[in-house]
Amino acid sequence: MDSIVVKGGSELRGQIHIAGAKNAALTLMPATLLSEEPLTLTNAPRLSDIATMTQLLQSLGAEITSMQDGKVQVMSTHGEINTTADYEIVRKMRASNLVLGPLLAREGHAIVSLPGGCAIGARPMDIHTDGLEKMGASIELKDGYLHAKAAGGKLKGAVIDFPFASVGATENIMMAATLAKGTTVINNAAREPEIVDLATCLRSMGAQIEGDGTSTITVQGVDRLGAATHPVVTDRIELGTYMLAPVFCGGEVECLGGRMDLVSSFVEKLDAAGVDVTETKAGLKVKRRGDRPKAVDVTTEPFPGFPTDLQAQMMAMLCLAEGTSVLEEKIFENRFMHAPELVRMGADIDVQGGTATVTGVAGLKGAPVMATDLRASVSLILAGLAAEGETVVNRVYHLDRGYEHVEEKLGAVGAKIERVQGS
Ligand code: UD1
Repeated sequence: MDSIVVKGGSELRGQIHIAGAKNAALTLMPATLLSEEPLTLTNAPRLSDIATMTQLLQSLGAEITSMQDGKVQVMSTHGEINTTADYEIVRKMRASNLVLGPLLAREGHAIVSLPGGCAIGARPMDIHTDGLEKMGASIELKDGYLHAKAAGGKLKGAVIDFPFASVGATENIMMAATLAKGTTVINNAAREPEIVDLATCLRSMGAQIEGDGTSTITVQGVDRLGAATHPVVTDRIELGTYMLAPVFCGGEVECLGGRMDLVSSFVEKLDAAGVDVTETKAGLKVKRRGDRPKAVDVTTEPFPGFPTDLQAQMMAMLCLAEGTSVLEEKIFENRFMHAPELVRMGADIDVQGGTATVTGVAGLKGAPVMATDLRASVSLILAGLAAEGETVVNRVYHLDRGYEHVEEKLGAVGAKIERVQGS
């Protein structure tokens, strides 16, 4: 397995191009199942999670052509399709569950494997299935698979009140509702930019959706959806990650394609921590004001709150801050696995349940560390940028799920970073 070796201490200067959002692409791709006509995505990220979704959609009968080195994906699903999403593919990635709504809407039935355990928490699917049941589906769990059937072969509109603003459930129900009979209202819907991006794409395909970006989304079902070409929104998590890079080791980095509205709660915390973020014509420019960042308290929340997917990276930064910070993780119950790895690099972190208290230290020291999940891995690379000596991040397959060419992007702005091929 590959590892990434980082030698700390180099200032970073230059521009980093931010890719299209992984989490948007992973919901836009299954939307192709809703139409017999082609859906073309531009600005797609080049990631192993995208390859997994491609494999899953192909197993269902989609034809997918990847162009421009993977940046353009042309997908079409015409004629007969397979409605069983196999465990062997689904187990690799939770977002595979996003085929459930589209398959059910198109064919009136679907069999989708439950994704199984995930390192960062239990992540059940009850909000998805309760919503689909309200739309007239009967759903049974047999041998690890959800067997779903729409009464009379077609889903019908319903008013659905989510107990929690789940991103995936909002996406699944929104997609299912586009072809349902009648109107669906989702109350307490997630407001993430990826939801807005999906709604925008579905509208281009002919769907009638209002309210995306607010807590109430209304979808009026239509008989069919057509072809569309859609550019994937900028990845706000990759953006936030690279915005932090110059805070670790000094310098100034411009993140091309970055938009303030995608990261406003994060920028507020950066400002409080003594980091300047300025809008430029091409994106966002970031520079640390003093020699060290300052402590800030952070609580993760659904959008527009501070994203859980930037919590690990923020924790790594706060390890070097002046003062003590309290980080509260409110979205996932087990998302501090990077903490013991950061402690191995000299950080002072005390984790009690969903709360981590981080007392900043003047410097970190390089060490061999283990990547435990996607965002944890990148937090260790960031910490390595500031650490004295060499940090070896092992098990980087997690990283490749969500960050394209990380060593090239950071290397181009001056980081001493390389990938070592494993056996
Ligand atoms: C998506 C993102 C992930 C991000 C998360 C929260 C994708 C592919 N992934 O994941 O990167 O960290 O949003 O911003 O877009 N829950 C239930 N029952 C359900 C569904 C969710 O209890 O049916 C719980 C989960 O266990 C978790 C919380 O709700 O504690 C948030 O989950 P959700 O918003 O659904 O996240 P995902 O869509 O899985």
